[in-house]
Amino acid sequence: MHIRDLADVIRLERRAFGREAWGWAGFLIGFAFGGVFLQAARGDKMLGFVLAQGRRATGETWILNIAVDPDQRNQGIGRTLMLAVEAEAATPRLRLTVRIDNAAARHLYRSLGYEELRLRRGYYGQGRDGMEMEKRITPYDSQQELPYE
Ligand SMILES: CC(C)(COP(=O)(O)OP(=O)(O)OC[C@H]1O[C@@H](n2cnc3c(N)ncnc32)[C@H](O)[C@@H]1OP(=O)(O)O)[C@@H](O)C(=O)NCCC(=O)NCCS
Repeated sequence: MHIRDLADVIRLERRAFGREAWGWAGFLIGFAFGGVFLQAARGDKMLGFVLAQGRRATGETWILNIAVDPDQRNQGIGRTLMLAVEAEAATPRLRLTVRIDNAAARHLYRSLGYEELRLRRGYYGQGRDGMEMEKRITPYDSQQELPYE
């Protein structure tokens, strides 16, 4: 992902999340801190993206945002993006939080080997709970340099 792709990211984010979409600030901060920021594309058209950040202190890479264009879902693009993050993550664990009523995302994460860790009540606002999930990556090379932080 390049900063020039950010307008496409914002457009896709709005299509995917509606009123709950991140604005520019969240993605600009994501760029500023570095991390794994990948897109799936066909030609010039962005089909999906994922943003993740590694935290050496806790040994976790957090998947902060992932979205696939509503017209392009259920073709394995989300799975491919998640596996691409996994391939680039330089921490022993991957973590994320997902809305408990987000059936498609929870199905995807479970099928990729993420386990449910804890319920986070009101994480997305009043009455909107989140589920924190984790995947342990093995084998993990602890000598590997973090390409970000
Ligand atoms: C979550 C998301 C990224 C998945 O992208 P995708 O490209 O459709 O993902 P994939 O095609 O790789 O996998 C989707 C899986 O969910 C399944 N699925 C789709 N709708 C479902 C539903 N309502 N209930 C249960 N499973 C569902 C599909 O069958 C598929 O599983 P399978 O491979 O075992 O058949 C996409 O739905 C999205 O952008 N959602 C809006 C943004 C969002 O919620 N992001 C995640 C925030 S934590």
